[in-house]
Amino acid sequence: MDFKLSEEHLMIQKAARDFAKNTCLPGVIERDEHQKFPKEQVEQLADLGFMGMMVKPEYGGAGMDTISYVLAMEEISKVDASTSVCMSVNNSLVCYGLQEFGTEEQKKKYLTPLAQGKKDGQLYIGAFLLSEPEAGSDATSQKTTAEDMGDYYLLNGTKNWITNGSSASVYLVIAQTHPEKGSHGINAFIVEKNWPGVTVGAKENKLGIRGSDTHSILFNDVKVPKANRIGEDGFGFKFAMKTLSGGRIGIAAQALGIASGAYELALAYSKQRKAFGQEIAKHQAIQFKLADMATRIDAARLLCLKAAWEKDHGMNYDLSSSMAKVYASETAMWVTVEAVQIHGGYGYVKEYHVERLMRDAKITQIYEGTSEVQRIVISRNILK
Ligand code: CAA
Ligand code: FAD
Repeated sequence: MDFKLSEEHLMIQKAARDFAKNTCLPGVIERDEHQKFPKEQVEQLADLGFMGMMVKPEYGGAGMDTISYVLAMEEISKVDASTSVCMSVNNSLVCYGLQEFGTEEQKKKYLTPLAQGKKDGQLYIGAFLLSEPEAGSDATSQKTTAEDMGDYYLLNGTKNWITNGSSASVYLVIAQTHPEKGSHGINAFIVEKNWPGVTVGAKENKLGIRGSDTHSILFNDVKVPKANRIGEDGFGFKFAMKTLSGGRIGIAAQALGIASGAYELALAYSKQRKAFGQEIAKHQAIQFKLADMATRIDAARLLCLKAAWEKDHGMNYDLSSSMAKVYASETAMWVTVEAVQIHGGYGYVKEYHVERLMRDAKITQIYEGTSEVQRIVISRNILK
């Protein structure tokens, strides 16, 4: 077993770290405050090849492995989780789903510009539309319908909480075609945002990842060509689950980054701030907090890298991705609360960044499957 990163991995990690420092850090507090989508940051990510990291070069991607993706996600999330969630959705939900299960025609038409993050010089990214007002964790209870009309499907319904909702050009939409078949009647479709009948709903005003644009998306008699269905009739729920297994590695890495970003800030602050005649880092109560933070972060990192390694080696990673996600997100929540505590009153104001990281941490326990859902997946896998 080799815990050393390769030269190539170290280069990717450094590129992501430099990008986070030079491009994400400036203005991150203002983007959070004003809920401003990080368009310039995402455009530059596209130029770096980070919007289609694991896509094969023949489809416009960077041809990197999942380990590289985890390393990049961690570095960017240390500074700006609003930018990293946009990157994560495009990479591991949209591009992965199309590369793995799309037809050749779908890959040429949609995957190639999505992996490049640009089309005709304009931002071109995707979104993944599974959740509904009444179907979140209980994802098989889809109310959105896709009626088979012969040459096309007629799509009707509402999707909720969609990341990249207004900035995406392409939506991967999950909908029910044969309600009598339950999860086996669900399909997945590629839908373009500018098609007639597609409406972008109001933007959500959120606790954290406020730069990310979260919207409901409404479909009213949208005609979806048969050629835009992904996989066989009825494959949609399995498509969503298989795609989410990889997505959860991305969100685990995001949580890892939020935790390690907060830890690095707390560590540096503890060596500067003096109380009772010495740096607070000399007080054992602070030292023990730092020790626990470092230990939990390392454990989260190992789980993320293990899940990524299993994916890169063609193994089943349903269990390891859920373990990484639940552990890293709970670590992120715990570490960020402690990082605010170590900063005292300064931690409670925006200039010191840790309050934002604490707000951003919370979503990692909710999206791409709540912590309870991850425990359902883990227990089913270990008990089967
Ligand atoms: N791979 C392949 N097939 C799978 C699978 C997987 N990983 N997981 C489930 N399936 C199959 C099952 O085998 C079953 O098929 P069969 O009937 O042929 O056996 C079918 O799918 C239904 O599965 P379950 O019976 O397990 O379904 P369930 O109703 O018990 O639900 C669940 C299981 C794990 C709770 C699932 O509904 C789930 O993951 N819910 C959470 C949804 C979620 O993660 N949403 C995220 C939205 S995207 C997002 O959030 C993006 C973002 O924020 C940035
Ligand atoms: P519910 O499913 O109603 O859950 C409520 C509570 O009950 C949770 O604590 C849950 O864990 C618990 N619970 C439910 N069922 C069980 C059970 N069987 N056992 C134990 N506990 C249970 N979705 C997308 O499709 N695409 C996106 O891009 C996307 N982006 C998002 C961005 C943001 C900012 C947010 C907030 C959400 C996003 N989501 C997205 C939706 C997200 O995936 C769901 O919010 C999440 O899956 C939970 O669903 P819910 O909100 O309906 O909660």
